[in-house]
Amino acid sequence: MIGVLVSGEGSNLQALLDAGLPVAAVASNRAGVRALERAEKAGVPAAAFLLDEFADRAQRDATMANWLQEQGVRLVVCAGYLHLLTSAFLDRFPERIVNVHPSLLPEFPGVRAIDEALEAGVETTGVTVHLVDEGLDTGTVIRQEPVPVEPAETLVERIHAVEHRLLPEVVRELCVR
Ligand code: GRF
Repeated sequence: MIGVLVSGEGSNLQALLDAGLPVAAVASNRAGVRALERAEKAGVPAAAFLLDEFADRAQRDATMANWLQEQGVRLVVCAGYLHLLTSAFLDRFPERIVNVHPSLLPEFPGVRAIDEALEAGVETTGVTVHLVDEGLDTGTVIRQEPVPVEPAETLVERIHAVEHRLLPEVVRELCVR
């Protein structure tokens, strides 16, 4: 069973749902986001774990991990989740947390990956699915796919299209392990 961490739009969550993958729970660090609506519409238990409602990040992460495990989650997918995870969360799902990132890591980590690729003038960027550790987009790469930068006007949508295909593919493979 899969738990998905989200922060915003949730188009990658939608791709996992549309692929028929066993999404058991969706957790967000923000309330009222579109990703939570998508979960509710799909009948998947969804909850927001807001940092300011906890003493610190570790307590929030431990509570979120407890809730996911109560829903039967064994594989966690960060799909547009914009907070770093602490060891209070990471240690609960060893080697079982993945993230999708819109660049060919280790190039362009962080939240401005697509803009930074454009600013750097590279010919090729891409999509990475990787294991999550305590760093910013630093975990072991599982799968990468290059995307040509030109035509730049459509780069964002072409990257998202690759994400929406690649992430469910990799997650499906991890589910059977
Ligand atoms: C995606 O580009 C993902 O790679 C990045 O944040 C974006 C999230 O989009 N980490 P969504 O919330 O899945 O629509």
